[in-house]
Amino acid sequence: MNGENEQERSHRLGVWLIGARGAISTCVAYGLAGLRDGIVEPVGLVTEKEPLRSLGMRAFEDFVLGGHEIARTDLSRSAAELARNGVLPRDLVAAASADAAAFEARIRPGLLDLGEVGRAELDPESAALGGAPIRERVDRIRGDLEAFRDEHDLERVVVVYLASTEPLREPAPSWETLEAFEEAIESGEDLPASCLYAYAAFRAKAPFVNFTPNRGASIPALCELALAEGVPHCGNDGKTGETLIKSALAPMFAARALRVLAWQGYNMLGNGDGAALADPSRRATKCASKDKALHAILDDEDLHTGVEIDFVPSLHDWKTAMDFVHFEGFLGAKMSLQFTWSGSDSALAAPLVVDLVRLADLAASRGEVGGMAHTACFFKSPLDGGTHDFHAQFRALMAYAAAR
Ligand SMILES: NC(=O)c1ccc[n+]([C@@H]2O[C@H](COP(=O)([O-])OP(=O)(O)OC[C@H]3O[C@@H](n4cnc5c(N)ncnc54)[C@H](O)[C@@H]3O)[C@@H](O)[C@H]2O)c1
Repeated sequence: MNGENEQERSHRLGVWLIGARGAISTCVAYGLAGLRDGIVEPVGLVTEKEPLRSLGMRAFEDFVLGGHEIARTDLSRSAAELARNGVLPRDLVAAASADAAAFEARIRPGLLDLGEVGRAELDPESAALGGAPIRERVDRIRGDLEAFRDEHDLERVVVVYLASTEPLREPAPSWETLEAFEEAIESGEDLPASCLYAYAAFRAKAPFVNFTPNRGASIPALCELALAEGVPHCGNDGKTGETLIKSALAPMFAARALRVLAWQGYNMLGNGDGAALADPSRRATKCASKDKALHAILDDEDLHTGVEIDFVPSLHDWKTAMDFVHFEGFLGAKMSLQFTWSGSDSALAAPLVVDLVRLADLAASRGEVGGMAHTACFFKSPLDGGTHDFHAQFRALMAYAAAR
């Protein structure tokens, strides 16, 4: 990852993780070191499979990690917790300790969202930056990205947004156009941190991947900026578990002309994401994102759906989702399907993050700009791509690969 030879340097890709000490970022950092050294198998990585693999994906040894964070903890503590809970293998934690320390040294103080103000374990520098005028804050974030690119002689930096879910906010008039958004920055309007990070990334000409349900680059003002700066971006909200199954199963009911009457989902999470989602306003952001796929695929106004999320600390990273599907067949016969999914949230998410970084890097290298419609299969609320049907989304990704 850190070769000094000039030729090698020109192939380096910067990956800037926002929420750098969180569970997913930790799994990405340790996982990448393990993939590079051949001690982790590329299970769950679509870009390691054909036909994507042959498109010229960036090699694992060319990745250089940096990031922003607002919490005072450090990466080794996050890794120890994930190891204790059976997610990170202990031998990998030991083998990747030097890579983790190098990444930790490149983590810069982050930009506070209003919802984070007053949080107990805040990094003091992030807290201090939180008091500065908004223009100064975004310029500092952009400066960090540009300095990272220059210091490590990186060909490109891809920014991945992996910070906590923000409270749900209604769209504001200042989100509509770039001009209005920049006026709002100058006047100090309260704007979501995820949008300010996306703004800074685009101004630094960095592709942006929003793995969270936060607004990020999805607002019209920032879609306009991505086009103006000529960078690709994708999001929102990684599709890793319950919604992945829903978007794969619902098309089957539609294809067989079976009538789905109700689809209820109940999720239990015990990690940092679960703790954040214990706040009703943040939970509303997530539930809205998780509920979209069924209505879009089944297109029945009588369909009854519900998604609930509870924080259950003892589960740690092992998220459990229980779904009940009530459906009707010929002669009005009522039937049901029930499933339970138990998965390590971070182990499911980390390979998708690596795939998305590689796809954003590839898109940028080909001069593609704006929303990356071909990545819709990775997201619960795709910015672009037109359908929530996982199979159709995956076919679109394959068609993208075949067309090049
Ligand atoms: N794990 C999954 O399967 C999955 C799927 C889809 C979406 N997500 C989303 O990914 C995000 C990360 O998940 P996680 O499990 O790693 O959560 P986590 O709580 O372990 O990590 C989030 C990190 O972001 C930091 N943070 C919060 N606000 C920040 C800010 N303004 N700037 C910089 N850093 C900030 C926190 O301090 C924390 O370290 C969450 O928003 C989650 O909803 C996760």
